[in-house]
Amino acid sequence: MTSPPNDPRDLVVLTLCGSLREGSFNRALLGAARELAPEGLTLEAGTDLARLPFYNPDVDGEDPPAVATEFRSALRRVDGLIIATPEYNFGVPAVVKNAIDWGSRPVKDPPITGLPTLLLGASGGASGTMRGQLSLRQSLVFTATPVLPRPGFYLTFAAKKFEDGRLHDEPTRELLGTTLKVFGEWIRAGCPVGRDGF
Ligand SMILES: Cc1cc2nc3c(=O)[nH]c(=O)nc-3n(C[C@H](O)[C@H](O)[C@H](O)COP(=O)(O)O)c2cc1C
Repeated sequence: MTSPPNDPRDLVVLTLCGSLREGSFNRALLGAARELAPEGLTLEAGTDLARLPFYNPDVDGEDPPAVATEFRSALRRVDGLIIATPEYNFGVPAVVKNAIDWGSRPVKDPPITGLPTLLLGASGGASGTMRGQLSLRQSLVFTATPVLPRPGFYLTFAAKKFEDGRLHDEPTRELLGTTLKVFGEWIRAGCPVGRDGF
């Protein structure tokens, strides 16, 4: 008998929030994701991106900042990454790009390379962070980070879908649950591209 195609073990996924705002919809979205994650997929809150200094190769030698080491160790330990981020000026907030930059070094063994990643985004308007996510995908092409091809998750008109920090919009909750399930299956299948459902 050949070995089973899917890895049955539990998966641990690190979550990063691209907004520093206390009442952030994207932070609330990650809260909903923790609630709706399927069995076998554990979401763990990653480094608060406000703690990472601006990337500077001069301080990233033998003795990098402790927070960067903590961040990189977490990326190496987990099975996947979820980034929930707003769109800022058709791109992503600087803290998100900065985190990618820290994760992309050391150049010989970058912790973000090869790490299965899911992008989520919530915006106040009609675009649902589509352009921001596209620009983030561009950076993740260079770092060779596999990003779940589909379904895309673009939460629009956020103010109508959250109340007191809770995602109450049922179709959105359903899509989020499905997306997380597909993400887990995709990781277990080895992150293929171009198959139905992915
Ligand atoms: C500096 C800045 C730039 C923004 N640019 C965009 C944008 O390009 N597209 C968009 O849909 N919303 C934009 N917004 C609005 C955000 O979608 C909205 O503030 C959203 O709630 C931010 O996410 P958060 O609630 O997680 O903080 C921008 C907001 C800020 C503060």
